[in-house]
Amino acid sequence: MADRIYYPNSELAAKAHCGSMAQYKQMHEKSIKEPEKFWGEIAKEFYWETPVLDNKFFSYNFDITKGDIFINWMEGATTNISFNLLDKNVKNGGGDKIAFYWEGNDPDDYSRLTYRKLLEEVCRFANVLKSKGVSKGDRVAIYMPMILELPIAMLACTRIGAVHSIVFAGYSSDSLAERILDSKAKVLITTDGVWRGEKLLHLKSICDDALEKVKKHGHEVQSCIVVAHMRRLSNPQGPANCGAGKTNGVVKNGTQTNSNELNLSWDDDRDCWWHDEMEDAEPSCYPVWMAAEDPLFILYTSGSTGKPKGVLHTTAGYLIYAATTFKYVFDYHPGDVYWCTADIGWITGHTYVVYGPLANGATSVLFEGTPFFPANDRYWSVVDKYKVSQFYTAPTAIRSLMKFGDGLVKKHDLSSLKVLGSVGEPINSEAWLWFYNLVGHGVCSIADTFWQTETGGHVITPLPGATPMKPGSATFPFFGVLPELLDEDGHIVEGEGEGYLVFRQPWPGMMRTLYGNHQRFQTTYFDRFHGYYCTGDGAKRDADGYLWVTGRVDDMLNVSGHLMSTAEVESVLAEHLSVAEAAVVSKPHAVKGQCLYCFITPNEGVTFDKKLQDELKKKVRERIGPFAQPDVIQHAPGLPKTRSGKIMRRILRKIAVGDKNVGDTSTLADEGVVELLFQLRPQV
Ligand code: WT7
Repeated sequence: MADRIYYPNSELAAKAHCGSMAQYKQMHEKSIKEPEKFWGEIAKEFYWETPVLDNKFFSYNFDITKGDIFINWMEGATTNISFNLLDKNVKNGGGDKIAFYWEGNDPDDYSRLTYRKLLEEVCRFANVLKSKGVSKGDRVAIYMPMILELPIAMLACTRIGAVHSIVFAGYSSDSLAERILDSKAKVLITTDGVWRGEKLLHLKSICDDALEKVKKHGHEVQSCIVVAHMRRLSNPQGPANCGAGKTNGVVKNGTQTNSNELNLSWDDDRDCWWHDEMEDAEPSCYPVWMAAEDPLFILYTSGSTGKPKGVLHTTAGYLIYAATTFKYVFDYHPGDVYWCTADIGWITGHTYVVYGPLANGATSVLFEGTPFFPANDRYWSVVDKYKVSQFYTAPTAIRSLMKFGDGLVKKHDLSSLKVLGSVGEPINSEAWLWFYNLVGHGVCSIADTFWQTETGGHVITPLPGATPMKPGSATFPFFGVLPELLDEDGHIVEGEGEGYLVFRQPWPGMMRTLYGNHQRFQTTYFDRFHGYYCTGDGAKRDADGYLWVTGRVDDMLNVSGHLMSTAEVESVLAEHLSVAEAAVVSKPHAVKGQCLYCFITPNEGVTFDKKLQDELKKKVRERIGPFAQPDVIQHAPGLPKTRSGKIMRRILRKIAVGDKNVGDTSTLADEGVVELLFQLRPQV
């Protein structure tokens, strides 16, 4: 069944922005052979304060043997992203159009924001940022839940040329502190707290801890701006409801919405309320014109050495790439309601909750909650409520919702859906088919979009009106993208085969550097194969030319679509006083895709017991975040190492799954350790 080809439905194809494979091929060829022309025509749809110069449209070097890596698009042009996303849409008559429907964690909390109101709020907050001393090039850290103030804060940064650095509000205070320190942010924006399902997160207090840690390392954040989110939920008519629409929520016995129990601590010199600052702020703010290659944002992603990498995206290229991928991959048309379930704290949320949709004047759902609250049919009820036409989510969410059976899906009217999207990890064919047949009632196209924080937008993906789909294949490259498969020696694999997935030339939305560390950028992505950007993923090409991304080839693992490195988790575990050594590998997991399996060598005299295991799990939660919690902590009196001391994770991965076919162990310093580790496997 999984080998079957699924064709786009003809009704969708007839109206699609790209409606056939012939059109896709012709556009793709042009985008590769004449990138200046292809993207130049697209650039004309945007506003440029200083026009794009044809002769300097595109220059790059992908080969470090020829000098430093650089990527330049539209050099010399100037623009402003918030102007293109907001002013332009309002001027074109779209002021009353809904930009976002906000749907709270509690189904009784919802509101909406038009393009006109969004522009006004963005300008007011841009003026607040200015009053806090923020100017062009300054970094602003953001640690917020999925509320309307989050896109407002981001776009306010772009209004004045400040660089936002969003940290997912599920990260621990340590992770937040590390990211604030690396970017030397001047201001931090957060909320008092937030409900995630039935769990209350004390975001402001996590920020207090993080700012304390940052201070100890010699950096001081000047202002912390706090949205009174909990407070307004308990008092929808109160002052904290800063014009971003009204929450319609009412207090229900105070269980979900009482802010008093938060017990906020407050530093009068540093902390201020968002709504107090907004009260007197002017609702207009002239945009700062940014050069095409000026920084837009930093977003940290895990690196295989443990220290997070500050992926830097710039202005013009990211704008046109986010806009173009959104238009073609989701086939968005006026009147559609689009919903991406990703948190804005990840790249998917940056590009496909905020920048891509707004650049297209789209109407989206911004969802604060979880798929499981108040019940396990929340996603389907939201699709039904807003008559969502494009629904973009992750395989891990699909797999966890499959478990609850078909009834919860069938209960709701999902006939508004036209396009479904998947992102974060390879989607297994079982989940694909369930998504296709049940959620998409056999008529929606599925866009299995392969991309990375680094790529800025989709790079391998079907187009819903054009590409015949194979369940589990991300299919073909997007416009401007030229993938290759390389073997160990860097030779190109032609036709059917498998290899390292690399890209031959830059597309406008790709990263430009790692913040403050261009050297690491070059060695991480351009050193392994000269002349190519190396994704770190492996892929297969089948006889029909379809690409199948098989997963990471480095020491990275993907838990529920969250990328992390084994090194990052190992260093946290090794800090525990009872731990002599730790080695972490990934193990397949039915819902999460992969989970963490940790081998621990305790110090002399330490008993390896449940208490130690619990402490270690807690430590990882606290230091990295709840999503990184290990599933298994195994006792390892010794680890399989080569004579030079390198841990052979290949063998540990076999032990984790109980597969005795460990392959060649002759290079091990002590072969006996393998059998011992098999014996000590916990029964899980
Ligand atoms: C890694 C990037 C960019 C979106 C969210 C994750 C894996 C992502 C797919 C897909 C197979 C995928 C890759 C990639 N990945 N989408 N459709 N099929 N694998 O961003 O945290 O930067 O992770 O996620 O391994 O390298 P990220």
